[in-house]
Amino acid sequence: VIHSSLQGAVASSVAEPLLLNAVRGEDVERPPVWLMRQAGRYMKADGTSYQIICEKHPSFRERSENVDLVVEISLQPWKVFRPDGVILFSDILTPLSGMNIPFDIVKGKGPVIFNPLRTADDVDQVREFVPEESVPYVGEALTILRKEVENKAAVLGFVGAPFTLASYVVEGGSSKHFSKIKRLAFSQPKILHALLQKFATSMAKYIQYQADNGAQAVQIFDSWATELSPVDFEEFSLPYLKQIVDTVKQSHPTLPLILYASGSGGLLERLALTGVDVVSLDWSVDMAEGRRRLGPDVAVQGNVDPGVLFGSKEFITNRINDVVKKAGRGKHILNLGHGIVVGTPEENVAHFFEVAKGIRY
Ligand code: CP3
Repeated sequence: VIHSSLQGAVASSVAEPLLLNAVRGEDVERPPVWLMRQAGRYMKADGTSYQIICEKHPSFRERSENVDLVVEISLQPWKVFRPDGVILFSDILTPLSGMNIPFDIVKGKGPVIFNPLRTADDVDQVREFVPEESVPYVGEALTILRKEVENKAAVLGFVGAPFTLASYVVEGGSSKHFSKIKRLAFSQPKILHALLQKFATSMAKYIQYQADNGAQAVQIFDSWATELSPVDFEEFSLPYLKQIVDTVKQSHPTLPLILYASGSGGLLERLALTGVDVVSLDWSVDMAEGRRRLGPDVAVQGNVDPGVLFGSKEFITNRINDVVKKAGRGKHILNLGHGIVVGTPEENVAHFFEVAKGIRY
């Protein structure tokens, strides 16, 4: 008895980041907060900001594939706002070159895949991802971030979901109508399934690699799942997400997994079927309703409209309070419903964090 109570005392003296406690359903005094795309172009040119780094290093791939720059950019919002989550500065497309899919991210245009994949032969050329060989800088950066952040916040990794990655590599970049991937899905589904399977295996490995190198929770972005009708989500996204979650849970049973899909209102219950710990809601769903539909076992993240940050400080405060009240006590990570928009006033982001960190249940 004495032995186990001593163990308890030791365990409770090592403070875990608030975000992890909240996800596990422990009693927390306020919701942890971080913002998707918290590192990036809205940050002021004050001599140390992202904008200045972009002038010196105009290539996105350079900024996101160099250990020192990745660490510096990831820590910028941490130094200024002290969020409860510090997300790795990277991109969902970062693993692609290691899978033999050359790409770039072009200013003003976004992601560009040089040779879009459309045929069975194209898919055969895709290599399975070996993170330690292809992206050693990611592991090194995560390890440094863990040291720098000292458990005062959770260090977050992320990956793209198979369908979202496939949509980029089949379309050749961002898309409006997703006609190329839908042509493939609805006329030659076997080819798309082969590609999705490669992404599922590779992204499961990538999550394990991130966790082994310091990530304390990992978010899966299925940004374009919203383009699929629910029956097609069940065929082209859900099984692969579930496979990733199952694989990672076997090796890392306590690693919290967060799943984000934009336009998630029509898919909520299906997102929970993946087995993730946290479902990240966009603002198309009322938070109270989302909570009800997901049930008590799943934690929720979100879901203030990023556009709210263009409103007045009072307006921002009201919207934060509304979401926090509707999410209820515990099992909630306060966040936006999608990434911060370029042009957002930095002082409004500061206000968001200040209000959020002052909340007490
Ligand atoms: O949240 C963070 O602060 C971490 C950084 C992060 C980036 N991309 C950096 C980035 C994260 C989590 C991502 C994920 C990502 N990348 C997603 C999923 C999230 C979402 O928005 O739905 C998607 C779909 C991508 C693909 C991608 N990369 C797009 C559509 C763009 C925008 C192109 C543009 O010019 O606006 C990128 C580039 C990118 N990735 C930027 C940043 C900060 C902007 C380019 C830059 O800063 O130079």
